[in-house]
Amino acid sequence: MTASSLATAVASVPIAAEPQAFEVKPTGAALGADIVGLDLRQPLHPATVHALQQAWNRHLVLRFRGQQQLTVQDHIRFSAYFGQLDQRPIGAQPLHGSTEALPREIVVISNVVQDGKALGGLGDGESVWHADMTYQPVPPKAALLLAREIPAEGGNTYFANMYAAFDALPPDLKAQAVQHACVHDASRNSAGQLRLGFKDSTDPRETVGAVHPLARLNPDTGKYSLYLGRRRGAYVRGLALSESEALLNALWAHATQPQFAWAQQWQVGDLVAWDNRVTLHRRDAFDPSARRYMQRTQVSE
Ligand code: OGA
Ligand code: MN
Repeated sequence: MTASSLATAVASVPIAAEPQAFEVKPTGAALGADIVGLDLRQPLHPATVHALQQAWNRHLVLRFRGQQQLTVQDHIRFSAYFGQLDQRPIGAQPLHGSTEALPREIVVISNVVQDGKALGGLGDGESVWHADMTYQPVPPKAALLLAREIPAEGGNTYFANMYAAFDALPPDLKAQAVQHACVHDASRNSAGQLRLGFKDSTDPRETVGAVHPLARLNPDTGKYSLYLGRRRGAYVRGLALSESEALLNALWAHATQPQFAWAQQWQVGDLVAWDNRVTLHRRDAFDPSARRYMQRTQVSE
């Protein structure tokens, strides 16, 4: 790290003089907890960050309600306590309610079209169960999604606990998960749209993307989780196609059962942080004439 990038990193995570107290209120479902009583606009003490990270390791998804006052810079600064932030590859995106350019640490997830131009990604359709960008060799560790505008109904986001799914696997499936690795399809985004430069293949044996073990050891917790990424285009290396399909179908049917999941019903100002290594998420479709506008940061592994 150069002196100037170190200076930037330190400046982006200011340190409070005293630890801050907060409450952790579990959802009661298989994952998720509300964090109450913390002002995310203020610098945090390292002990506070540590306590938040412990709550996050334990509950996998943290929700901070009532964060409509957070500026883009607050969102970025808070996210940066948990690691280095990914940057958007290209193109300026306008700030919410303004024409100012958004910093590259922010990605907009929205169906809003302004002057004929989509303000963000994923549109208004359903997005099926997935983890983000697992088609990369080193996928992101986490994401923090802040709701600015939400539709009156629809657009809920569901999360599923992949530690719990792994632990509850029948022994034969668990043995197969531990033994095999799977290719994660890089050709489509989580809304199912084909990415530029990728060919549309229907044979999973031709899928292009990173290969990861189906059972992933989390170095922070020492526990295994199921690591599925996305179903479409997935292929278990070393198996016949029919065996791969049967194994993946069984693992996906198991992992996406309601007892491992929790539904986030958005309110404006909800900031939801998920551990992308040990959860899956999906989103309901919503009325295309309604506006949904979210801004997101992503923490690198
Ligand atoms: C994402 C995502 C779901 C949503 O940002 O990676 O899948 O509810 N978003 O917008
Ligand atoms: Mn996603």
